[in-house]
Amino acid sequence: MRKTRHIVSSKQFANKKLLQELFLSAEKMALDDAARSLPQTLQGRLLATLFYEPSTRTRFSFEAAMQKLGGCVLTAENAKQSSSATKGESLADTIRVVSGYVDAIAIRHYEEGSAKRAAEVSPVPIINAGDGIGEHPTQALADMFTIWTELGRLNGLKVALVGDLLNGRTIHSLLPLLATYDDVTISLVSPRQLRLPEKYSRYLASRGVAVVETSQLTGAMRGADVVYMTRVQRERFASEEEYCSVKDAYTIDAKIADKLKAKAIIMHALPRVSEISPDVDANYRAAYFRQAKNALYIRMALLNDLLA
Ligand code: NCD
Repeated sequence: MRKTRHIVSSKQFANKKLLQELFLSAEKMALDDAARSLPQTLQGRLLATLFYEPSTRTRFSFEAAMQKLGGCVLTAENAKQSSSATKGESLADTIRVVSGYVDAIAIRHYEEGSAKRAAEVSPVPIINAGDGIGEHPTQALADMFTIWTELGRLNGLKVALVGDLLNGRTIHSLLPLLATYDDVTISLVSPRQLRLPEKYSRYLASRGVAVVETSQLTGAMRGADVVYMTRVQRERFASEEEYCSVKDAYTIDAKIADKLKAKAIIMHALPRVSEISPDVDANYRAAYFRQAKNALYIRMALLNDLLA
């Protein structure tokens, strides 16, 4: 696989061959993990997880990925409060310092563009683990890997992206990856206030992707291969009132899930709030916990590529 120094945007991976190599590498990680025979390729390597926003899956899976391959981790799980940011240190200075201690930095920060700014001053690879309402490229790679493992194909898919398309960074990163494949049809399902920002729709148009924008979930689900639900991003709203007006705009329960195509899957980057009722979990189409597991293997493959 080509060496990528920083992982800032999913657009860096908008290439079928590169994605295929990554998926095969992640698949091998999963098999080796099951056989307890993971290669210890990251021995002596150190990753910093510098998180200025809450996280469960992303940080744990980065740390697990590193340690399962023999590497070590330094973590700031609450960097907004616990790092020198509270003393007024700039992000650039923090990165300059931390990069002197470790071999790579996975950063989650509340400002869009923060990972790019970090990459500009970092001599070690920066991995964007979420930059505000910008991107979350490694999640999107895990999402594509999930579709590949679940459905066995990435061309000709009908995908419904549902919920907070304005603030959902996993969706922003997923679009360029979906657009890499042929004959993909994307339905964008959101309340009017949470529509996908122009810059992403323009990108899809430039790649010739067929896009349908709607506020009706039922229609979009008909014939869909993938229904990707998202959490309404409460922390991005100016007021609780505005959040409450849209928070339950789209919900799926077991009855609705059963109406999907037999081979369809339901995805969610998690955490879920009310978007997917727990009674959907028993439906074989519910892929979200497998999706969370897949993120571990994708992050192993990425770290191995960057640091081994
Ligand atoms: C997402 C995130 O942080 O953007 N979670 C994740 O990383 N799996 C989605 C969300 O918070 O809604």
